[in-house]
Amino acid sequence: MTRVLVTGGAGYIGTHTCVELLARGYEPVVVDNFVNSTPEAIRRVSRLTGRTLTWYEGDVRDTGKMAHLLGKHECRAVIHFAGLKAVGESTERPLDYYSVNTLGTHALASAMLDAGVHQLVFSSSATVYGEPVFLPYTESHPLQPTSPYGRSKQAAEMLLNDIAASGAMRDIAILRYFNPIGAHPSGLIGEDPNDVPNNLMPYVAQVAVGRRPFLNIWGNDYDTPDGTGVRDYLHVVDLARAHVLALDRFRHTHGPVTLNLGTGHGSSVLDVVKAFEEASGRRIPLRFEPRRAGDIAAFWADPSLAEETLGWKAENTLEDMCRDQWTWQSRNPLGYEAA
Ligand code: NAD
Ligand code: UD1
Repeated sequence: MTRVLVTGGAGYIGTHTCVELLARGYEPVVVDNFVNSTPEAIRRVSRLTGRTLTWYEGDVRDTGKMAHLLGKHECRAVIHFAGLKAVGESTERPLDYYSVNTLGTHALASAMLDAGVHQLVFSSSATVYGEPVFLPYTESHPLQPTSPYGRSKQAAEMLLNDIAASGAMRDIAILRYFNPIGAHPSGLIGEDPNDVPNNLMPYVAQVAVGRRPFLNIWGNDYDTPDGTGVRDYLHVVDLARAHVLALDRFRHTHGPVTLNLGTGHGSSVLDVVKAFEEASGRRIPLRFEPRRAGDIAAFWADPSLAEETLGWKAENTLEDMCRDQWTWQSRNPLGYEAA
């Protein structure tokens, strides 16, 4: 059994990845400080998989603790999800974002070297690209992130690439996620935002379930087919699978790699609303509002390198994503809170 330390494993993408790891013969050891999650999410993963999960409350910046856990469980690899991810908040609290996202990655990498662990999968974001110079974004697109969040991820990427170049850590996969949405089809785990959701899909789902009266559409005057913003939405289970494939690859291929994870297709806000209405049978009342500051009109991935490198391709459609989001939201209208 290959044990893997999963930082931020109680979060949205982390829980889905734990499910896929268990299904593919890996044993996750979760560490999370629960700033944006709850131990209930880990209990749900256990319920879903029928397996007991080992987990610890801890901060990824605690190098000593991370090295101790890596040694204690004889982990072969680390998947590093722990991070802060709200763009707006990052402009108000840049110190926290650099502390967790950049220095947290530094602390974790130090712990890995102390413990002799040399395989790391890191959560980066399409937000590192910034305003598109060309589309779709390939991995060699210039990096010009427009927020402290994006820059804190870019800085972590630079650190990891320098560690790889030094020869100190052999196997690093930097994964740049596009827009993950949806939930595990069981409806047991899903995204559970703390406050008012910033992101489109959780907001739409909360409108459908009656927690919010209408969706604000931030801008319908973009140079896009219907005037609303276009993104590359991918199913969180497809995204989770890519992490397992990245670990599998380390068995036979070494060296650092940076990969886009998206479907390669853009959908507009109105496309998403329509697909969600069809999946849920609920109507989503809309209000058109001015553009949201800092938003980009349209972007999507060129995911071909991930297919070449990992044999990974997103399989779920927008309809699948909306159906599974609705299953999660309708069965857990208040998220994990009710449990
Ligand atoms: P999430 O907030 O659900 O999960 C992150 C987890 O990390 C949470 O459980 C949180 O409690 C934990 N955490 C935060 N700071 C920590 C610390 N100092 N020590 C230990 N644990 C800590 O977010 P997510 O959507 O699952 O995102 C996972 C990763 O993927 C993040 O690094 C995020 O920046 C990145 N990412 C997410 C998206 C997205 O749209 N969800 C897109 C691109 C990149
Ligand atoms: C946001 C982050 C980005 C992060 C990504 C995934 C910003 C500026 N960027 O990107 O860094 O990687 O989430 O977590 O926050 N929309 C509405 N109404 C809403 C919410 C969103 O119309 O209530 C629109 C947006 O204008 C956008 C699209 O829906 O066109 C998607 O928005 P969102 O889900 O927030 O994702 P991103 O903007 O791609």
